[in-house]
Amino acid sequence: MTSVAELIAVTTISGTTAASTCDTDLAEPTWAFDALPTYGPGASVADPIPVDTTNATMRPGQLPLAYQKMSDEELHARIVAARETLGDRIVILGHYYQRDEIVAYADFVGDSFQLANAALTRPDAEAIVFCGVHFMAETADILARDEQHVILPNLAAGCSMADMADSESVEAAWEELAEVYGFDASQEIDEGWFERNPGVKLPVIPVTYMNSSAALKAFCGRHGGIVCTSSNARTVLEWAFERGERVLFFPDQHLGRNTAKAMGVPLEQMPMWNPRKDLGGNTSAELDDARVILWHGFCSVHKRFTTAQIDAAREQHPGVQVVVHPECPMPVVDAADAAGSTELIRRFVAEAAPGSTIAIGTEVNMVNRLAAQHPDKTIFCLDPVICPCSTMYRIHPGYLAWTLEGLVEGEWRNEIQVDPDVATHARVALTRMLAAAPQPLGGTPAPAAPAAPAAASAPAAPAPALTVSTGGAR
Ligand code: 13P
Ligand code: SF4
Repeated sequence: MTSVAELIAVTTISGTTAASTCDTDLAEPTWAFDALPTYGPGASVADPIPVDTTNATMRPGQLPLAYQKMSDEELHARIVAARETLGDRIVILGHYYQRDEIVAYADFVGDSFQLANAALTRPDAEAIVFCGVHFMAETADILARDEQHVILPNLAAGCSMADMADSESVEAAWEELAEVYGFDASQEIDEGWFERNPGVKLPVIPVTYMNSSAALKAFCGRHGGIVCTSSNARTVLEWAFERGERVLFFPDQHLGRNTAKAMGVPLEQMPMWNPRKDLGGNTSAELDDARVILWHGFCSVHKRFTTAQIDAAREQHPGVQVVVHPECPMPVVDAADAAGSTELIRRFVAEAAPGSTIAIGTEVNMVNRLAAQHPDKTIFCLDPVICPCSTMYRIHPGYLAWTLEGLVEGEWRNEIQVDPDVATHARVALTRMLAAAPQPLGGTPAPAAPAAPAAASAPAAPAPALTVSTGGAR
């Protein structure tokens, strides 16, 4: 299979395909790309990222030169050797959006909910090497035992959406909401509060998407709130509506809107909160009536998907089934046949009848991998432009080799350590999240593939699994 890195090279460097990439920077050689100043230091501003103050252009993502010079073959040999030496002392987790060159070494591959659970299945591992983005590694550190170390191979692998809600802005919003709804913004709601106050509803329950800093998860833990992932957002909102009059949902407006809409919340009761405006740009009356207050955040990868792409796919591929991630804008989710987390998308494809044609609205590394894993189906990305998540893409085998060899030498390179007080509160909100079962986000069951008469019945709308798929060959 052609990896996304190879596709980018063919497309952008030699120009031999009709496709294009969303960012020409991606065509830069890996180490030049990592050194580009346009890429930020990760999701958590509070994280101690080693910056070389003597060199203003040094990026946190830079690797020792020796590793930058290694061939792919040498990096592979070093990763395999280090992995063998370390054995069960480590576990490598890989998100679905990781490059194939990384997924190949992962012990577990999954969505963010599954990987949070996967981290818990290996309490004996000394180190959890998280090939994903910063907020995922932070979550693993919060859930891991104190003695365990969590390694993010490249500290510059953040999430631009997570960066859109910072603690200061959320605390400021909370204070404004406290004025409007008449509650004490500083009041902490401890873990047992709901049990001690049955039937009492709080004015606002804060709900943060997993794609947020540990500090915001702690904010939710302190204020009677909860974390959600794209796979259990609906269950989480149900939990919140049982305990509160309304929800403040951050940072992803699209996941919040798509989930609440599928639950029957009218759009007029979902005002947007713009942190740069007074009352988020709303009137008190609008806020009085609100059921879900949506933070003004989005994913730059998923906001690229459009209904025009769905129309084009339906025109060019009659009978095509369209499945998208709920971080896509609402009109795209509404026009799709199904929407759900990355694991739900994987299941949708796996359960579709042979001969099906499926257009997918999510990150291209995952789409290409699904296409390669299902040669009996026609699978393509809704967006004709090659657009990987540029922060997930920053985990390159060079970083994996460097961090694994560090572990062999007893050195914790790129360790993610969440402040213990933050972790204590964040764990409250995460524990509630882990108890919230994944649920499909809606959409209609996929129709049977016209080209596969043998598979007479339509594949059911796929139910996401709690299990984690094991990674590729090592
Ligand atoms: P999942 O929750 O589906 O893993 O998605 C995480 C993510 O970052 C999607 O952009
Ligand atoms: Fe963040 Fe979007 Fe990348 Fe997911 S795909 S990690 S939301 S930037």
